[in-house]
Amino acid sequence: MNAALPLDTGTGPACGSPIAHESAHAQVAGRAPYVDDLPEPRGTLHAAPILSPVAHGRLRGLDVSAALALPGVRAVVTAQDIPGDPVLAAFAHDEPVLARDTVQHVGQVIGLVVADDVRTARAAARAVRADIEPLPAVLDPRTAHAQGAYVLPPVHVRRGDAAAAIAQAPHRLQGAFAVGGQEHYYLEGQIALAIPQEQDQWTVLSSTQHPGEVQHWVAHALGLATHRVRVECRRMGGGFGGKETQAGHVAVWAALAAHKVGAPVKLRLDRDDDMLITGKRHPFAYDYAVGFDDGGRILGLELSMYVDCGFSADLSGPVADRAVFHSDNAYFVPHVALHSYRCRTHKQSATAFRGFGGPQGMIAIETLIGDIARHLGLDPLEVRHRNLYDDAPAPTWTVPLPAGSTPLPPRRDTTPYQMRVEDNILRPLIDTLAERCRYAQRRAAIAEWNARSPVLQRGLALTPVKFGISFTATLFNQAGALVHVYTDGSVLVNHGGTEMGQGLHTKVAQIVADELGVPVARVQVSASDTARVPNASATAASSGTDLNGRAAQYAAASVRQNLAAFVCGLDGCGAGEIRFEGGWVLSPKARRRFDDVVREAYANRIQLWSDGFYRTPKIHYDKTTLTGRPFYYFAYGAACTEVAIDPLTGELRVLAVDVLHDVGRSINPAIDVGQIEGGFVQGMGWLTTEELVWRDDGRLWTTGASTYKIPAAGDLPPHWRIDLWPEPNREDNVFGSKAVGEPPFMLAISVWEAVRDAVASARRRAGLPADGPLPLDAPATPERIWRACQAG
Ligand code: MTE
Ligand code: MOS
Repeated sequence: MNAALPLDTGTGPACGSPIAHESAHAQVAGRAPYVDDLPEPRGTLHAAPILSPVAHGRLRGLDVSAALALPGVRAVVTAQDIPGDPVLAAFAHDEPVLARDTVQHVGQVIGLVVADDVRTARAAARAVRADIEPLPAVLDPRTAHAQGAYVLPPVHVRRGDAAAAIAQAPHRLQGAFAVGGQEHYYLEGQIALAIPQEQDQWTVLSSTQHPGEVQHWVAHALGLATHRVRVECRRMGGGFGGKETQAGHVAVWAALAAHKVGAPVKLRLDRDDDMLITGKRHPFAYDYAVGFDDGGRILGLELSMYVDCGFSADLSGPVADRAVFHSDNAYFVPHVALHSYRCRTHKQSATAFRGFGGPQGMIAIETLIGDIARHLGLDPLEVRHRNLYDDAPAPTWTVPLPAGSTPLPPRRDTTPYQMRVEDNILRPLIDTLAERCRYAQRRAAIAEWNARSPVLQRGLALTPVKFGISFTATLFNQAGALVHVYTDGSVLVNHGGTEMGQGLHTKVAQIVADELGVPVARVQVSASDTARVPNASATAASSGTDLNGRAAQYAAASVRQNLAAFVCGLDGCGAGEIRFEGGWVLSPKARRRFDDVVREAYANRIQLWSDGFYRTPKIHYDKTTLTGRPFYYFAYGAACTEVAIDPLTGELRVLAVDVLHDVGRSINPAIDVGQIEGGFVQGMGWLTTEELVWRDDGRLWTTGASTYKIPAAGDLPPHWRIDLWPEPNREDNVFGSKAVGEPPFMLAISVWEAVRDAVASARRRAGLPADGPLPLDAPATPERIWRACQAG
């Protein structure tokens, strides 16, 4: 028996238990290395990017003489130095690896300087002079739309006859508003270390959510087959979607520089450059018209979304699609016309960010419902309730429909993209939360408080979330894993997912431990590595555990079956009679230690390792019409938030937050609650303090913590309660769990609606109109709140 391996046979199953994150102790002790902490191979050089100072222009030449004259500078790398394809291997194939001929945003990378150390490289990069003839730049999506400038064609989803339904409705509202983008602000900036190996083989250490794509992009740019490049990522210091594609650029640049100088090259962007170069959340602008009845039930909705995609497509297609898929949030809208314009602007190419367009879709309808309630003088929660999906009959409509429109469904349970909502738990979930947080009593108390308060005004809102789980690109919903059992009974797992702090490796270890009936301390998850599990999808769309957890479970199950068959042979029993529990293997005849069985099995030449593969069932959809079943299931939740604002200064305080969120049967309640907390606070930042400001010349002004304000510990609400909904996933998902990474982000829409509730109250007191749309865009910064309380 190996003394280093704890048996603690007394402990129960690992899944369901709030064990600490696998790296928690190492991280707090500073012993969990990130790419920049790893020992550098001998001769490692350092790169720094040369950035475009102009938003749009013709690139006529580069003067690199001053840079090359600096001591310690080894080389300047430009598009001419790319041995493979100078266009990035991204889906749309519309982005140069390094700018050639034209520049398309301030901060676009034109080349790299390679030097002996980072400081020299950065100083030299700043000494490069680009000769650029400026061209007109488009910086906002509405202007791009007016010019027909898109990175991808517009998409329209129509059901029934929205225009007619709105025209015939007893009440109508129309308006426009906008929500801002968001910087990921991962604590570990973008970084890659590219190491040339023998005979055109490469190793790249990358802080990436998608090692497989980094491998593909690097190979493509170097003109090599994929098998020449190996990419490894042990962990990221946060990704949040910002290292889904953006890490690939950095790795390709490092590899090109390493290729030119023939030595390992590390590229670590400093914070300003990181913010200038890399994509962020997509800002959205909206136009809408909505028709509704006396009770606030929506009868027809026409919504146009102008998506600020930046200069290239990147992930804008699936992000904008997800916004369409979530513009219903939890509500049945019978007649609907959704228009999604993927606008090209001369800015950073916007990319994945937690929620992946879902937040931008959802906030539109939540804002409209707030407006409808105020317009009718109803409680917004009542209006939300009346519009929820359920199985009541849908209205009928006999007149001919406009072209491209689908007919109304028989029941109020079908989304505009024709997926039935079969697992809806929102009514009981909302009612439980409203009861628990005393919504009705507080609503009355706040009205009274506001009437008496000399200045400050409070606001309250309870908003739901219904978030679709699966990659909308169906092919990504697959995963592989390897489980190795060594002869001492210790277990090593490798899977295609990546660890960015969300606890994926911890959950996968728990799943494998239970499958083999061993304590979780026996299971080690290794770094993500393209040489072990090939063609893995990005760890994204919240589906890391669903996909990789199941693949690892299948791999472990196949090792267990081998061991069970071996024990059956010894004891003459059926495989179904063998149990694996707490480090023991139990047959009707005998009780053996897991590691004894493993050793015996090895001696009898039984396979002690296996692979596992999983693909999500049931999903399919038509990419051109956006109809079908894009999601395996929905994750639900609701939050109730109370805020106070100062109408004289615009200052905002979030006073109380109550959350009831659905993670199915939780694999790890500690990690899940952490994800809910983190998601909520990040969403709150998006909607209140985090403002990206681009100057008129297209330069992003907010490139560091001094100008870009992410929430800090002091912004947490004094009352902060999070409960988990107790029901397992109704679909067959690993352990009965549900994905948790992104859905809680959108609970923060309750902060936005509470702020608007308080603003409406301040406006009423000031004698300003407040019975419909309010003059407020997101983020609700103090300046904007102040203006919304004064403006006519
Ligand atoms: N949590 C931490 N701590 N750090 C992160 O970078 N990324 C979020 C979420 N939670 C993130 C996080 C995003 S955008 C996604 S898609 C999921 O985690 C990805 O991991 P999962 O699929 O394993 O949940
Ligand atoms: Mo998350 S935005 O899907 O990486």
